[in-house]
Amino acid sequence: MTYQIYPRSFADADGDGTGDLAGITSRLEYLADLGVDAIWLSPFYPSPQSDYGYDVVDNRDVDPLFGSLSDAEHLLERAHQVGLRVIIDLIPNHTSSAHPWFAEALAAGPGSAERDRYIFRDGRGPDGDEPPTNWRSVFGSGAWTRVEDGQWYLHMFDQEEPDLNWRNPEVAEEFRSVLRFWLDRGVDGFRVDVAHGLMKDLRDQKVPEGYSPNSDPAVMYDAGVEDDPMWDRPEVHDVYRDWHKIVAAYPGDRMLLAEAWTQWPADLRGYLRTDEFDQAFNFLWLQSKWSAVEFTEAIMSTLQALEPSRAWPTWVLSNHDAVRHRTRYGDGPQALARARAATLTMLALPGSAYLYQGEELGLPHVELPPEHQQDPWAKGGNGRDGCRVPLPWSGDAPPFGFSPGDQQPWLPQPVQWADLTVAAQTGRPGSTLEFYRAALAARRRYARGAGGEVRFLDAPDGVIAFRRGRLSVFLNCGTAPTPLPDGDVVICSGERPVSDLAPDDAVWILTG
Ligand code: NOJ
Repeated sequence: MTYQIYPRSFADADGDGTGDLAGITSRLEYLADLGVDAIWLSPFYPSPQSDYGYDVVDNRDVDPLFGSLSDAEHLLERAHQVGLRVIIDLIPNHTSSAHPWFAEALAAGPGSAERDRYIFRDGRGPDGDEPPTNWRSVFGSGAWTRVEDGQWYLHMFDQEEPDLNWRNPEVAEEFRSVLRFWLDRGVDGFRVDVAHGLMKDLRDQKVPEGYSPNSDPAVMYDAGVEDDPMWDRPEVHDVYRDWHKIVAAYPGDRMLLAEAWTQWPADLRGYLRTDEFDQAFNFLWLQSKWSAVEFTEAIMSTLQALEPSRAWPTWVLSNHDAVRHRTRYGDGPQALARARAATLTMLALPGSAYLYQGEELGLPHVELPPEHQQDPWAKGGNGRDGCRVPLPWSGDAPPFGFSPGDQQPWLPQPVQWADLTVAAQTGRPGSTLEFYRAALAARRRYARGAGGEVRFLDAPDGVIAFRRGRLSVFLNCGTAPTPLPDGDVVICSGERPVSDLAPDDAVWILTG
């Protein structure tokens, strides 16, 4: 089970209101105690923070905002001492526009070797003032920006994130060296950002009627375009075969994890060939509404899609790009009950589960007033800041121990979070934190060794029921209580059931 840390918002040791690496190091015992096996760190590299660190200026260093390279080394050492593996984010699709390479590309001009590290093209139309293709960026604007000398550069995301040219061998060599740099320092793996985006075919997209590239922040990339020239081009796999060899040459069990959005779940198999990624995110459940039909479909299609490959499936309900699942499932206590039930069900499945910081506290997505919205995506009014609000650790008022003293965090925390802090929930029977601890312990004990087979059981409408070995799992998304078989209750997401499972609850039962 891997726990995602968004460094800006996890813990602030130096008191500037933004989380940092020393803050993470100071909380590693908390994570080990929670039952986490590995942590995935969102980017901490030097960056102007236009896209909160996904706009990188130097892939081999740490932004002073987050600390120093020696803080990163110390974090790695301490994490390993407490038994946690460390996966770091790697962003090969683009750099920041403040990267020295981009400055060199602008200065050197059209046709230069410097410009060829990125994707510069002349425009269309008699004066070249129309972009080279009809592409829209994921963040909503056109995907091309014109520079002073008249050429255009490609950015699949923010204008400040120019795309690298992966058909240029110098780019490939640079990233080989970046991989080695961090592997030499002991990282256990890489979460590869936009893994399906590195290669592009520069031709127009055949856009279906009504298609809009980023209608919902919970869905990073719409899959609606046949033979999409922007995403999932076959040549990306050459890059990962190359990386696989590099990673495999290091001692220990290092891994590559893809953030790859493919049109169909089965297309993920391409990334999971034995000589490419070890795991790829599967966002089907994160994209599903609270519905037994949708959840069952997400589970079944994932298992079916990956069945012929050796790769374990992955499961995730929340991350730094999506509305927290606690809020996606509704308002008030019912939503929290549902979030816990979905989590418990997910943790019973074979494969790797990914948790996002703060879900163990039952944090809701925060509606921030417009003056506090900072995400570049929020320019459209519906950004990702709400899931990035700094964690509440202790105390009765913001900053809730996130920063020392009274320093307020970079995004404001709701005052109502006093009841949701780690300190308030520790040892409190029934708290979401204690529930997560128990669920992770139960997963270790009962679900881990239960084999890959998931057998669905007959169940009334609105209920999901499946078996793995002796473990039977029930999730009630319906409106009526549902009868349970005899057996020992291992764990439940709500009140311990007697003979019926209440709506919005899930339970694990050991049966004969
Ligand atoms: C995916 C990351 O998860 C997201 O936060 C980022 O904005 C884009 N990739 C661009 O790097």
